[in-house]
Amino acid sequence: MSRVTLTQYLVEQQRAKGLAPADVRQLIEDVGRACKGIASAINKGALAGVLGGAGTDNVQGEAQKKLDVISNDMIVAATEWGGYLAGMASEEMDNALPIPAHLPKGEYLLVYDPLDGSSNIDVNVSVGTIFSVLRCPQGVSAADEKAYLQPGKQQIAAGFVVYGPATIMVLTVGNGATAFTLDRDAGDWIQTTEKIEIPADTKEFAINTSNSRNWTAPIKRYIDECLAGTKGPRGKDFNMRWVASMVADVFRIISRGGIFMYPADAKYAEGRLRLLYEANPMSFIVEQAGGAAINGPQRILDVQPGKLHQRQGVILGSKNEVALVGKYYAEMK
Ligand code: F6P
Repeated sequence: MSRVTLTQYLVEQQRAKGLAPADVRQLIEDVGRACKGIASAINKGALAGVLGGAGTDNVQGEAQKKLDVISNDMIVAATEWGGYLAGMASEEMDNALPIPAHLPKGEYLLVYDPLDGSSNIDVNVSVGTIFSVLRCPQGVSAADEKAYLQPGKQQIAAGFVVYGPATIMVLTVGNGATAFTLDRDAGDWIQTTEKIEIPADTKEFAINTSNSRNWTAPIKRYIDECLAGTKGPRGKDFNMRWVASMVADVFRIISRGGIFMYPADAKYAEGRLRLLYEANPMSFIVEQAGGAAINGPQRILDVQPGKLHQRQGVILGSKNEVALVGKYYAEMK
């Protein structure tokens, strides 16, 4: 494959499909630049004094890591001045952040989780950044919370970066999903996967089984049947993987198939992951890669958000497996 940079990919998407107009391209490039800085900070780890807690809690009452705060600040600094944003919202900020009055405003909204899986930071396991681009509704000048409450199917672009052995960005602008690897020497994102296609079937599931006592009947049934292996109704043995970093688990699924589940349960009645920062961007990417994403009874991208930090049940990945879980939900109504 010839070396196609992120910029070249985005320009070609605009020329061929009218996707990723110049402002969106610049926004994605600037998020990509912030992610290079985040990758570098993560890579230095203890040498840069960035590990450990920040001593603060985020709006959901979770203890923030220093790198949560650093990553959030890097994304704000990289994107607020560009003139393409009407505002931004982050898992690590209590409220939506308006663009400062002295800076020009644009038509788009950036929604992101600056450092997903950050509880893994101190143990040197992969973490990531997840982002989503929405159009600011017409007539809304200073984007307030309501502007962000759009179903995921209205996303213009979505991506995530995994800071793993290699730093990889997975991106969709609505014409399939593709991946870029960070070439640290050149400082460029280089396309390293053509169109991603998630296999429709799988023998691998990802779920935190320590929550099994809280699961609802459809999830219990699905997992029990997987665990029954060749002697059970599925007639095959399954393997389990759980990194506890959504970016790493989803990257594995888009690489070789699988199903990822953090469902609503007796403890988290609405689910545990965040709809706007995690569920929607990941669902858009997974669907663009030929997979499926539901919250149980419903397609995630159709859910109308009611509030910025709303949680959501998430079941995504290989489409035949997701369909089977969806069928169990429908049967057990
Ligand atoms: O949203 C945070 C997150 O760290 C995800 O990246 C991950 O999938 C999940 O939480 C891990 O949850 P648990 O701590 O229950 O394993």
